[in-house]
Amino acid sequence: MKCRERYKSSFTSQICGKCDSLLNVVYDEKKKFSYSTDNSFWSYGEFMPDCSYKRLEAGSTNVVIADEYGLYFKVESTNPTKSFKDRGSVIELNKAIEYGYKEVACASTGNMAYSIAYYSKMLGIRAKVFISKHANKDKIKLIKGTHDADISEIDGDFTDAQNEAIKYSKKNNAFLTGDYCYRKEGQKTAIFEAMHDLKSVDTVILPVGNATLLAGTLEAVKYMKQSNAIKQIPKVIGVEAEGAKPLYTAFKSGTQIIRERPDTAADAIAVGFPTFGEESIKLLKELGGDMVTVSDKEMLEEAVKLKEMYNIEAELGGAASVAAYRKLSPEGKTIALVSGGNI
Ligand SMILES: Cc1ncc(COP(=O)(O)O)c(C=O)c1O
Repeated sequence: MKCRERYKSSFTSQICGKCDSLLNVVYDEKKKFSYSTDNSFWSYGEFMPDCSYKRLEAGSTNVVIADEYGLYFKVESTNPTKSFKDRGSVIELNKAIEYGYKEVACASTGNMAYSIAYYSKMLGIRAKVFISKHANKDKIKLIKGTHDADISEIDGDFTDAQNEAIKYSKKNNAFLTGDYCYRKEGQKTAIFEAMHDLKSVDTVILPVGNATLLAGTLEAVKYMKQSNAIKQIPKVIGVEAEGAKPLYTAFKSGTQIIRERPDTAADAIAVGFPTFGEESIKLLKELGGDMVTVSDKEMLEEAVKLKEMYNIEAELGGAASVAAYRKLSPEGKTIALVSGGNI
């Protein structure tokens, strides 16, 4: 992205070979977006990078109407590994296999590794995952217990784990997966599905960790508007935890993103330096979006309510969007993305 080098789709890395910055997927003949009839995840496969995909189950989640005017939940905890991560994992793991890799590597706050480990096993490729040793122990157990991934616990935060994954992938010729361009494409399907169900929406609220979901959603609504599939671009609001708010601070103060040491119980969004931060800020400004923060207590209250009132599983990061909704009370129709339920 920095040096603007262009690569053919046969280039097998998600990071620039010249300047090491993130690559973006550019579509040769950009098709106009249109809704599919059945609104399933793979029915939007034609808007994903070319690949002969093995179409494993992901996405196709429900929108649930809340018991209050204008609020709808897009419930991502019903994905196979209980978070929206599966949408991106199934795309990038298929690409890794197409490129001929035998192993993938990734860094994770927990859910990403679980998702990568799950699809790696289903697709028959080895997975090496790097997780902070301060991450949620139950999530580490989930990965260890079920999907054969080789786990390295890192004495540091998510960003330290990410640096380890990059080093490992270079040294061992493993495909670097995680918060990169193919995942970003896959995660666009959540907003494609939600907009199909609701048609017009005023506000979309979603949690922010590494900001891949935020950047992907902003790109997706821009693309839908350019294709005349939607009349107006909804206001997209990203939510960070009060104890991990590097993007909020940079967006509100107009400064560079400064790395933080995360301090929040919402482990899924405990990120101190979001990979897609800069890109998200640019898009938020361009499309009239916003950022907000919520406390751990506010997230916990909404996670409990989601379970008690709607039987929806939500971890703290998963309930962040609903906590932000409660704080902001936006008018009109709002989608709050309940991003995950690995409690
Ligand atoms: C449940 C959940 N919500 C939100 C996020 C944040 O997504 P992103 O890193 O794309 O900002 C994550 C990331 O791990 C997650 O697992």
